[in-house]
Amino acid sequence: MLGIQSLVLFLAAFSSLVLAWDISNENDRHGCQLYSRNPLEGCDRDRTLFVDAVGGNSEFTTVQSAVASLPNNTDTYIILVASGNYTEQVNVTRRGPTYLLGQTRHPRNQAYNTVNIIWSAIAVPGLDNAFTSTLTVAPNLNASLTGSGPTGFAVPDGTPFGCVDFRTYNLNFINDFAPYSDDPSLALSISYANGGFYYTGFYSYQDTIYVGKLGNAYFKNGEVAGETDFFYGFGTAWVEQTSIALRNCGGGITAWKGTNTTFPNKYGVYIVNSNVHAANTSIASVIKGKCALGRPWNSQMRSIFARTYLDASIRPTGFIDWDPARYDNSTMQAEYRNYGPGYNATGRAMAEFDVQLTEAQYVPYSTPARVFQTPDGRFGNTDWIDFDV
Ligand SMILES: *[C@@H]1O[C@H](CO)[C@@H](O)[C@H](O)[C@H]1NC(C)=O
Ligand SMILES: *[C@@H]1O[C@H](CO)[C@@H](O)[C@H](O)[C@H]1NC(C)=O
Ligand SMILES: *[C@@H]1O[C@H](CO)[C@@H](O)[C@H](O)[C@H]1NC(C)=O
Ligand SMILES: *[C@@H]1O[C@H](CO)[C@@H](O)[C@H](O)[C@H]1NC(C)=O
Ligand SMILES: *[C@@H]1O[C@H](CO)[C@@H](O)[C@H](O)[C@H]1NC(C)=O
Ligand SMILES: *[C@@H]1O[C@H](CO)[C@@H](O)[C@H](O)[C@H]1NC(C)=O
Ligand SMILES: *[C@@H]1O[C@H](CO)[C@@H](O)[C@H](O)[C@H]1NC(C)=O
Ligand SMILES: *[C@@H]1O[C@H](CO)[C@@H](O)[C@H](O)[C@H]1NC(C)=O
Repeated sequence: MLGIQSLVLFLAAFSSLVLAWDISNENDRHGCQLYSRNPLEGCDRDRTLFVDAVGGNSEFTTVQSAVASLPNNTDTYIILVASGNYTEQVNVTRRGPTYLLGQTRHPRNQAYNTVNIIWSAIAVPGLDNAFTSTLTVAPNLNASLTGSGPTGFAVPDGTPFGCVDFRTYNLNFINDFAPYSDDPSLALSISYANGGFYYTGFYSYQDTIYVGKLGNAYFKNGEVAGETDFFYGFGTAWVEQTSIALRNCGGGITAWKGTNTTFPNKYGVYIVNSNVHAANTSIASVIKGKCALGRPWNSQMRSIFARTYLDASIRPTGFIDWDPARYDNSTMQAEYRNYGPGYNATGRAMAEFDVQLTEAQYVPYSTPARVFQTPDGRFGNTDWIDFDV
């Protein structure tokens, strides 16, 4: 017979299973991010580290020291970062789920983020872009190198996959080398890894976001600011409900390199239900009608803007070609139901490098599950995405 004691034990074990702290549960996450006397109150205490540069409340005063303290295994860890500015580069190589949370009273509003991670670097000739990034998520250096030419750096066969589920909530990553486009200055570099970026801001001028080889990156409810080719890469990026701030016009907003694989791939950048706008009113008058949606970094570039508001900064003909010309019939520079003053139907009808998709043509690219792939090409690789944000 089941004694009352074992019944109580069973219920306790059952409820702790059901009620385990869950990063994707907004109440759990917000409880941890809120300010409290013991900063880890509301967090998953066994698995959460606290970083505090100014308050003297933690042995970790940099985010990278906390990241470096984590074992290189498949266990899950959370790092809560206290409000403040951190001048450092963060580099996550481990495979296990790794979640960075910023302290905030306003977890549903990126504009109120209180944590900035700031670095200043530029890829002078001879230095790979990888070295400039404020945040890097990749198993090793080779996986993160951009390289050059149509196929970029030849990442050696056998390079392991890095983080299978990396996330940030309520953090800003800034590369403030120069207040204009000079040379590549990355705020994010993610390759051979899956990463979700929620209520997260990325600020630079050139090449702000790099989604490298076998990189899968999902962005929602955040902001990305830049001037030149500021979403670029080889992997797959899904950018949803994101404020895309134009700090000037250069190149295009997007610039991708397609890759030939033994399986069909949908590597590319998908900007969905987002808002493309001049960063402020003074730059708005300078860039009116001038910014391109993208340009082909190699001829197999794939970039789709869908159901996105475009302000008057966007040029009437949308996408452009590279100089010298690269656009050909393997290039996919497309739009689906964009709107706003930057969507000029007359201009688009005359455009040479910009295609309007029909619904049937858009459907194969219309959800994260239809575009995110495993390294061996299986679609539906979305377990690492927080769809509740
Ligand atoms: C982490 O572990 C993986 C799997 O064992 C290994 O391939 C990788 O080289 C390790 N990374 C580091 C930085 O030691
Ligand atoms: C923190 O960094 C932000 C962004 O660069 C800056 O606006 C702010 O002034 C900085 N705050 C302090 C206290 O340095
Ligand atoms: C990231 O850390 C790994 C392991 O220490 C190192 O090999 C690699 O060079 C670093 N990446 C960058 C871009 O600095
Ligand atoms: C990085 O790539 C170079 C060039 O292919 C290779 O010689 C080197 O062994 C690789 N390093 C690692 C850690 O895989
Ligand atoms: C407007 O944005 C541009 C580009 O970021 C910047 O250089 C300029 O200082 C901003 N002006 C104002 C008034 O904020
Ligand atoms: C992909 O294959 C096509 C056809 O062989 C070739 O023309 C193209 O240059 C290749 N692209 C890349 C990026 O390797
Ligand atoms: C694409 O262009 C190539 C080279 O110009 C040509 O051989 C091929 O037939 C074209 N493909 C399609 C589908 O138009
Ligand atoms: C729309 O594009 C056409 C063709 O480029 C151009 O003549 C017209 O001025 C544009 N309209 C606006 C409002 O920019």
